[in-house]
Amino acid sequence: MYKCVSLLLLLMGRGVLSQEVEVCSKTVINSCSDCIRSGAYCTWCKQLNFTKPGEQEAARCDTRAQLEERGCMGNDIISPMNTLTVTKNTALSTNAFVKDEPIQLRPQEVNLKLRPGLPRTFKLDFRRVEGYPVDLYYLMDLSYSMEDDLRSIKTLGNELFKALQGITKQGRIGFGSFVDKTVLPFTNTNPEKLKKPCEEKELFCQPAFGYRHVLSMTENKADFNREVDKQRISGNLDSPEGTLDAIMQAAVCGDRIGWRNSSTRLIVLTTDDGFHMAGDGKLAGILEPNDERCYMDKQLYTKSNDMDYPSVGQVASQLEKNNIQPIFAVTKNMENVYRELSRMIPKSEVGVLSEDSKNVVELIQAAYNRLSSKVTVTHDALPDNVRVTYTPLCPGGGPAGDKGVCDNVIVGEMVSFNVTVTADECIDRERSFLIGPLGIKDKLKVSLSTRCECECDDPKEENHKDCDRKGKVNCGMCSCNAGFVGQKCECAIGEKDESSLRAACRKDNGTECEGRGDCVCGICQCYVQQGGSTYYGTHCECENESCEKFQNKLCGGNGKCRCKICECNPEYEGTACQCKKSDEQCRTPSGSVCSGRGTCQCNQCKCIEGYQRPYCLTCPACQTPCITKGKCIECLGFQTGPFSKNCSQTFGWRGQLLCPDTKDPRMSGVAKHLRHHWRLHCGRGPDRLTDPAHHQSHPLHERREGVPQV
Ligand SMILES: *[C@@H]1O[C@H](CO)[C@@H](O)[C@H](O)[C@H]1NC(C)=O
Ligand SMILES: *[C@@H]1O[C@H](CO)[C@@H](O)[C@H](O)[C@H]1NC(C)=O
Ligand SMILES: *[C@@H]1O[C@H](CO)[C@@H](O)[C@H](O)[C@H]1NC(C)=O
Ligand SMILES: *[C@@H]1O[C@H](CO)[C@@H](O)[C@H](O)[C@H]1NC(C)=O
Ligand SMILES: *[C@@H]1O[C@H](CO)[C@@H](O)[C@H](O)[C@H]1NC(C)=O
Ligand SMILES: *[C@@H]1O[C@H](CO)[C@@H](O)[C@H](O)[C@H]1NC(C)=O
Repeated sequence: MYKCVSLLLLLMGRGVLSQEVEVCSKTVINSCSDCIRSGAYCTWCKQLNFTKPGEQEAARCDTRAQLEERGCMGNDIISPMNTLTVTKNTALSTNAFVKDEPIQLRPQEVNLKLRPGLPRTFKLDFRRVEGYPVDLYYLMDLSYSMEDDLRSIKTLGNELFKALQGITKQGRIGFGSFVDKTVLPFTNTNPEKLKKPCEEKELFCQPAFGYRHVLSMTENKADFNREVDKQRISGNLDSPEGTLDAIMQAAVCGDRIGWRNSSTRLIVLTTDDGFHMAGDGKLAGILEPNDERCYMDKQLYTKSNDMDYPSVGQVASQLEKNNIQPIFAVTKNMENVYRELSRMIPKSEVGVLSEDSKNVVELIQAAYNRLSSKVTVTHDALPDNVRVTYTPLCPGGGPAGDKGVCDNVIVGEMVSFNVTVTADECIDRERSFLIGPLGIKDKLKVSLSTRCECECDDPKEENHKDCDRKGKVNCGMCSCNAGFVGQKCECAIGEKDESSLRAACRKDNGTECEGRGDCVCGICQCYVQQGGSTYYGTHCECENESCEKFQNKLCGGNGKCRCKICECNPEYEGTACQCKKSDEQCRTPSGSVCSGRGTCQCNQCKCIEGYQRPYCLTCPACQTPCITKGKCIECLGFQTGPFSKNCSQTFGWRGQLLCPDTKDPRMSGVAKHLRHHWRLHCGRGPDRLTDPAHHQSHPLHERREGVPQV
C-alpha cells in the first residue's frame, strides 16, 4: 500500500514537471507545418542534409533544444512566434466634453497572430470619463395595483432630472409602460373589459395593452412631465406581467427609444409583480418564439399577441449587446424574484421600491453608483478553440478568469486588466471578437489569426542539386517533380506505377513495411525506434533489440541479437545463449554423466523423476518405499523373502493380497510394476535385498544413514 502511494506521488510529480518542461510529442509529421501544428514547442530544422539517408524527415521536428543538440543551426530552426500589433491606440479622454466621442478604453484595435497553444498577454486600460452622457428609460408597470406609484412618478419628474444632472450634464430621460398580452388568460377579453380593464370605480382607465413606448429620450423636463401626466392606469387578469416583452422591445428598438450611441444606458423598471417568460405564451396558444426583433407601430408593440415572451437568456443577451444596464425597482414582495433575474443579467441592479414609489430617485442613484463602481470586462462570442482570460490589475481585483472584475472604482480612475489570448488550434482564416467592459460602448476589436505555416525561405531553384536536380527544396526536404520519389528524388518511378511500388513494400500482402517504416520508391525506409535502435530488413521485419533475455541480459550477454534471434558465441548455446556448451557440470567424480539417471542439458543434469541434482544420485522420495515396504515388494514382485507367504498383514499392504496369488493373471501386471520399481529405485534384484552383504555395498544403501531401517 505504502509503495503504491509513493509510486503515485512520484508519477504525479512527474506529471507536474512535464507541464513545465518544453516538450514536443510528435504524431504524424510529414511537413514543417504538420510539425508546427503538433505542439507549441515543436520546431523544425530546415537544414539541408539534416536527415541521414533513409531517415524519416519527421526527425526534423523536435524541441529547439533537441534540434540544436543534434546539430541544427539556430537560424535553420523554424518556429513561428506570437505577434501582437496594436493597430489603433488612441489616448483615453479625460472628460466627456471632447469634439469626438470620448475614448474610455485603450487600445481599440489589436491584431494577433498566435502560435497554437502559446498564450499571449497584453494590457487593457479603462477609464470612465466624468460627465459621460446618461440615457435613462423609465419603464413602468401600469397594471392596476401600480396606481399609487403612477401618482408618485407624476410628481417626481423634476427630482429625477435633478438627480441625473448631478451625474452628467448630458442626461436624458425616456418613458414607456406595459401591462401584458391582451389575450386570455392574461387579460379579460370581454370587449367591455378590454376597453376598461380597471375596477368599476376607476374613472381614468386606459384600454388593455402590452407595451407602449410613450416618450423618446429627451432633455426636456416639461415634455417628460406632460407625457407622464397623461398616463392612465390599466389592468389585466393574472399577476405576472408582460415585463420581458417590454424590456426586449426597449432594448432592440434603439431608434424609437432614442438611445444615443455614446451614453450610459439605463432602464429603470418599476413593478410590483413577477413576469411571464418564454413558454407562457402557450397558455394563450401563442407558439411563435420570440425573435428578438423590434416590432413597433405608433408606439405600440405590434407582435404582443402573436409572439411568445422572450426567455431570460434572450433578454440578457440583448441587454448586453446593446450595453443597457437594467435597474429593477421593485416592491419588497418581489425583491427575491428580481434578485434571481439580476443574477442572470450581468450588469443589473435591484432596489426596493416603497409602496408608492416615492423613493425611486434615491434608489436609482444608489443603483447607478453601484453599477458604475464595478468594472467587468469580458468578450462576445469567441472563435472556436480560442480562450481568453483576464487578470485584473487593480487593488483588490478579483481572480483571473473569463471575466475581469474591478470593484469600488471611482469615476475618472483608470483600471487595467491583463488579457491573455490562447488559440488551441489552427484557425482557417482571420476571425475577430470584441472585448470590453459590460454596459460600456467602448470595445477593443481583436483580429486573430494563427501561425501554422512555415516560412522557410527556400532556395528558388526548381531543380535543386541536393534533390538530384529532380525537385525543389521545401523546408529542407525535397519536393520531387512528377515521376520521381525518394528522400533526394533519387528514384524514378519509371515504368512501374505507384501501386506496384507499394506492393513491393508488403510482405505476404501484410502491412506496408510491417508498419515500421515508409515505403519509398518500392523500398522500405525503416523507422528509428525511440531507444535509438533501427528496424531493418527488406520489410523492416527485423530489429536487434527484442531477442530473448537471460538474467536480464539480451542473449544472456553471450551472443549477438540479430533480427530477433540470438547468435551465440561459440561456447554458448540456447535460445538466449544461456547455456555453456559442456557437460563438465554433469559428470560425477567417477565420470558418468548424470549417474545414468538423466541427461545433461545446458551443462546441468536433467534427472529422471525423483532424483536430485547435481548428479541424479539420490532419490529420497523413491527410497522410502524400499525401506518400509521393501520386503513386501520383494514378496509380491519376486515371490521371495521372509514374507513370501503373507505380507499384507505385516505391512498393511492391500489387506487381502497374498504373495502366492501373484500367479493370478490379474496380479501379474502389479508384480511387473513392482519389479520395475524395485530395480529402478531399490536395487537390481531381490538378491541384493535378501543378502545383507549386498545391502552394505549398494550405493544407495551407503547413503541411507540416518534413515530409520525396517
Ligand atoms: C548534402 O549532401 C550532398 C551529398 O552528400 C552534398 O553534395 C551536398 O553538398 C550537401 N549539401 C549541403 C548543403 O551540405
Ligand atoms: C501582466 O502582463 C505582463 C506582461 O505580460 C506581465 O509581466 C505581468 O506579470 C502580468 N501581471 C499579472 C498580475 O499577471
Ligand atoms: C450609432 O452607431 C450605429 C452603429 O454603430 C451607426 O450606424 C450610427 O450611425 C451611429 N449614430 C450616430 C448618431 O453616431
Ligand atoms: C496477395 O493478394 C493477392 C490479391 O488479393 C493474391 O492474388 C495473392 O495470392 C496474395 N499473395 C499472398 C502471398 O498472399
Ligand atoms: C543487428 O545485429 C547484427 C549482428 O550483430 C548486425 O550485423 C547488424 O548491423 C545489426 N543491425 C542493426 C540495424 O543494428
Ligand atoms: C497372514 O497373516 C495374518 C495375520 O498375521 C493371518 O491372519 C492370515 O491367516 C495369514 N495368511 C496366511 C495365508 O498365512
